[in-house]
Amino acid sequence: MEERLDMHSPNWINKNSAFIAQYFPNCVTETIDGIKIDFDLLQQELSSDLIQGNKERYRLEWPGKREAIVTANLPTTKTPRPVREDSVEFDNTENIYIEGDNLEVLKLLQESYLGKIKMIYIDPPYNTGKDFVYKDNFSKDTQEALIESGQKDEYNQRLVANPETAGRYHSNWLSMMYPRIKLARNLLTKDGVIFISMGDSEVHNLRKICDEIFGEVNFIANPVWQKKYGPSNDSSKISDTHEHILIYSKDVSKWKPKLLPRSEDQLKAYKNPDNDPRGVWRASDLSVRTPSESCIYPITGPDGSVHYPPNSTSWRVSKDKFLEMLNDNRITFGINGKGRPMQKKFLTEVKDGITPQTWWSRDFAGDTKIARYEMKDLIPENVFDTPKPVSLIERAIDISGVESGIILDFFSGSATTAHSVLSANSKDGKSRKYLQVQLPEKTDEKSQAYKSGYKNICEIGKERIRRAAKKIKEETDADIDYGFRVYRLDSSNMQDVYYKPQDYDQGNLDLFGDNVKPDRTGDDLLAQVMLDWGLPLSLKIEQVEVSGKKVFKVAENSLYACFDSGIDEDFAKELAKDKPLRIVFKDSGFKNDTAKTNVKQLLKQMSPETEMKVI
Ligand SMILES: C[S@@+](CC[C@H](N)C(=O)[O-])C[C@H]1O[C@@H](n2cnc3c(N)ncnc32)[C@H](O)[C@@H]1O
Repeated sequence: MEERLDMHSPNWINKNSAFIAQYFPNCVTETIDGIKIDFDLLQQELSSDLIQGNKERYRLEWPGKREAIVTANLPTTKTPRPVREDSVEFDNTENIYIEGDNLEVLKLLQESYLGKIKMIYIDPPYNTGKDFVYKDNFSKDTQEALIESGQKDEYNQRLVANPETAGRYHSNWLSMMYPRIKLARNLLTKDGVIFISMGDSEVHNLRKICDEIFGEVNFIANPVWQKKYGPSNDSSKISDTHEHILIYSKDVSKWKPKLLPRSEDQLKAYKNPDNDPRGVWRASDLSVRTPSESCIYPITGPDGSVHYPPNSTSWRVSKDKFLEMLNDNRITFGINGKGRPMQKKFLTEVKDGITPQTWWSRDFAGDTKIARYEMKDLIPENVFDTPKPVSLIERAIDISGVESGIILDFFSGSATTAHSVLSANSKDGKSRKYLQVQLPEKTDEKSQAYKSGYKNICEIGKERIRRAAKKIKEETDADIDYGFRVYRLDSSNMQDVYYKPQDYDQGNLDLFGDNVKPDRTGDDLLAQVMLDWGLPLSLKIEQVEVSGKKVFKVAENSLYACFDSGIDEDFAKELAKDKPLRIVFKDSGFKNDTAKTNVKQLLKQMSPETEMKVI
C-alpha cells in the first residue's frame, strides 16, 4: 500500500519524545494519560544529585533506584594495569581478561568500546542469599566503618554479603544489577544482543529492569534451560531443574537470530521413497488449526477414499492451490496411496536451518553435570561450584550469529565464556574475541580452591583459559588466537594533586614535577591513554627503541607513546617520519619548555595529521 501524506506539519512533541526515548528508553513510562516521558527519571539521568518525585507510574521501584542511576553515570578514576606475567602472547592477542569490579570496568570501557560489542553473555549472582557480594559505594560512613573494621580484601574492596534476612534483599541486588546492565547496553553494537542467565529468585525483577533499560520492544525471548536431568528427591517442594536465559537486542529491527543447523535426527526425517528428482523430502501436515472456511473441501485419494480436514481445522491451502500442488507431485498419500493427504517438503526448499526455540534441553545446551565435568577435566581439584556448560554459551554464540568481533562477559567466574569462544572458533575457524571481567573475589580459606592455591576467582578463570586453550590447540590444531592479555584494575596512574594548600610541604611538592605515581610503568600509562583516547585495549602493541628511548607503537601508526624523559626536537623528528595519527608524551618528559614548544611546531610541519597530547 502506498504511503499516505500527513497533510499537516510535523508533530514535534512526538518527534522530540521519540528522540528522548531513543537515548533514554528507561525514561518512557505508562501513565493514566498513556505513554509519556518520565521527567523525574530524565532529570535524574542528567543530575548527580538525587531527584525526588513520587507520582504514580507503571514501573519497578525499589529504595536505592535513583542512587543506582547516579552510580551508573558517575565517572571513575580507576585504571587497568597490564599484568604481562599472567598473560599469554600479550603483544599479539586480541582477547582480554580484566580483573576488577565490573562496574568500574564497564565505565572505563564506555569510550573505547561504545557500540562495539556484538554479544554479551552474563551469568550474574542469582541472589540466593550466599552468592552475592557487593560494594556499598554510596554511603561514605559505611565505607569508612568497613575500612576501620578491616573488612577490606587485598584489592582494597569492601565486600558485603547479602543474606536473605537483609532488609534490602531484592533492593541490594537490583541496585547492583541496574547500573551494570545500563552501562553494558551502551557497549552493544546496533545489531548487538545480550543473553543473561538467571534463576527463579530474581528473573521477574531482571525482566522488569531489562524491559526498562533496553525498552520492552527489544525483548527477544526467555528460553528455559534444562540444567539437570531429573528431580532431586531431597527438594522440599518442587525440584528446581531449570534456569532462565533472558535475551534482549539493542535494536530489534537490526538483530536477527541465526538459524541452527539441523541435527542428524532431523535430517534423517528427509527421504526420497518415490525418487523425486527434487531430492529428499518429508511429509508435512496439510491441515491447520486456524481454519479458513474456503479451505474446507473433500480430497479424493488415489485409492478412492475421500478425506476431510480433521475437526476444527481446515486444509492449509485453497482447492485451486491444492490442485496445482497435486499436479506438481507435491502431495503424497503415503507409499501405498491409502494415507491422508500430506505436503511434500523438500530439503532444498526449506529454510537453511532450524529457528531457535525457547526450550534449551540438555541435549541442545548441556547441563550442570557436564559443566562440572568440563571444569574438572581441566582443573581436577574441585575449584569452582557453579560453572556453566561450554555448550550452553556456544549455543548462545551460534544464535547470536557473531562470527567476528567481541563477546563480553562481565561476570566471568570460571571463564566458561572464554572457553566457549575458543571452542566455537576452533570448530568454524572464525575470529570471535572475548573480553572477560571478573572481580578478584577471595576464595574461602576452607575451600578446595584455596587449598589448591587459587586465592581468588580470577586465578581460577585465568588458569582455566590457559588450560582450555592448550587442550583445544592439541586436539584441533586450529589456527586461532589462543592468547589473552590480563589487566588488573587499580587506582589512577596519576598522583592525586588535589591537595589543600595547608597540606603542601617540601616532600609532596615533587609531585608536581612528575604527576605519575612512582610505581607505574610505561605499560600502565599506555593502557590508560588508550582508553582515554577511545582506542580498544586489544590493539596490537609493539615496543621499539628509538634514539635510546622506549616507544610503544599501537596498531601500526594509530598511536605512538613515549613516557621517557629528555624528549627533544631530534627525537620527535624520528617519530614524525612515520606520521603517526596520535602521539603522547609525559608532560614532565620534555627536556625543557622550549623543547615542548618546538616539538609541537615540528610535528605540525612534518606530520600535520598527528594529534599530540601529554599526560
Ligand atoms: C554465577 S558466577 C558466573 C559463572 C560463570 N558463568 C562460569 O561459567 O563459571 C558469577 C560470578 O560473578 C562474579 N562477580 C560478582 N560480582 C562481581 C562484580 N561486581 N564484578 C565482577 N565480577 C563479579 C562472582 O565472583 C562470580 O564468580
